[in-house]
Amino acid sequence: MNYKGVIFDLDGVICFTDKYHYQAWKEMADEIGVYFDEVINNRLRGVSRMASLEIILERSDKTYSPKEKEELADKKNEIYKQLLAQMTPDDLSEEVKNTLDELRSRGCQLAIGSSSKNTKMILSQIGLDGYFDAISDGTNITHSKPDPEVFLKAAEYLGMPVTDCLVVEDAQAGIDAAAAGGFDGAGIGEAAVYDKTTYRLNTFSDLLAVVK
Ligand code: BG6
Ligand code: MG
Repeated sequence: MNYKGVIFDLDGVICFTDKYHYQAWKEMADEIGVYFDEVINNRLRGVSRMASLEIILERSDKTYSPKEKEELADKKNEIYKQLLAQMTPDDLSEEVKNTLDELRSRGCQLAIGSSSKNTKMILSQIGLDGYFDAISDGTNITHSKPDPEVFLKAAEYLGMPVTDCLVVEDAQAGIDAAAAGGFDGAGIGEAAVYDKTTYRLNTFSDLLAVVK
């Protein structure tokens, strides 16, 4: 096996929560009268909750105190969690599930490396509670992507050196994080056409030709 472990980003790779992040941020931004659209939303991919808020507030004339920022982020997260609560195992595609199962049957260890503090809730909603061998997420890191911490912790939790692990990402910040940690990165979506990406995936199951 060229890779003994595969570390997956969650949002945009295993499942598609982007639209919920967008809706929740949009509702919060509308409330405070700050312009927000899908193009700005694209900049939030892979970025932590507080860093996302800072990007949104670039359009605001008002200066918010740290406490007010916490309140805004909390408000967004409450709306976001209500949307996540509507997700079901039908939100996990057969292609993704079959590919994960096949990688596991080939002997790979599978991990999550996500900036999200809602990782466990999302995995539970889509029926993957307890599925992964290791989870590194927004609750165990102090530096968000493009810092490599979340992936380095995932490799550590798997008990594997970086060189044995492949990272799968949809965000440029995630590919940057993988590269900064010394990982090879497989990119899907926007990350597939990023020049720091080691492997370009047209579709998730292309991973089966990369990990062998
Ligand atoms: C990442 C998303 O997975 O998690 C980002 O791509 C998001 O858009 C980040 O900001 C943090 O998510 P959460 O769930 O902790 O607010
Ligand atoms: Mg992502």
